[in-house]
Amino acid sequence: MEKTFLMVKPDGVQRNLIGEIMSRFERKGFKLAGAKLMPVPQGLAEEHYGEHKEKPFFGELVEFITSGPVFAMVWEGEDVIAAARQMMGATKPSEAAPGTIRGDFGMIVGKNVIHGSDSKESADREISLFFNDGELVDYQKDS
Ligand code: CMP
Repeated sequence: MEKTFLMVKPDGVQRNLIGEIMSRFERKGFKLAGAKLMPVPQGLAEEHYGEHKEKPFFGELVEFITSGPVFAMVWEGEDVIAAARQMMGATKPSEAAPGTIRGDFGMIVGKNVIHGSDSKESADREISLFFNDGELVDYQKDS
C-alpha cells in the first residue's frame, strides 16, 4: 500500500494544530504507520530540502524548519500521496482552497503549516530520512 511522509511544521506545532491535522487524516480513513515529535537537526533539514538548495529562500527554509520541533508522520492508503496534497492545499496559503489545511490555517508561504511528499520517489526518500524501519508499524486496519 502507498505511503507518504507528512510533517506538521514548527508553526503548526506552536499553534496546537497537530491534533486537528491528524484528525483530518484519521477521519479520511488513512492508516497511521508512524509518528513522532522531534527537532530537525541542520543536516537533516538541508538534506530534506536539498532540491531547493539553489532557491533564494533556501536559508530561510532551513532556518525555519530547525527553529522548533516538528511532528513527523507516515500515513498509508490508496493514492495517499496525491490525496494528502489535496487535503493540504496549495503551497501558497493565499492560493489554498478553503477546507484544505493551508487554506484554513495558513497565511504565508514560508510558514504554511504542513509539508507533504510530492511523489512516490520523494515519499520513499523522506520516509527513510526521518524514520528507521523499526519506527514504522505494520498492522491490520479494518475500516
Ligand atoms: P514545503 O512543501 O515544505 O516545500 C518547500 C517549501 O518551501 C514550501 O513548503 C514552502 O514553505 C517554502 N517556500 C516556497 N516558496 C517560498 C518562498 N518564496 N519563500 C519562502 N519559503 C518558500
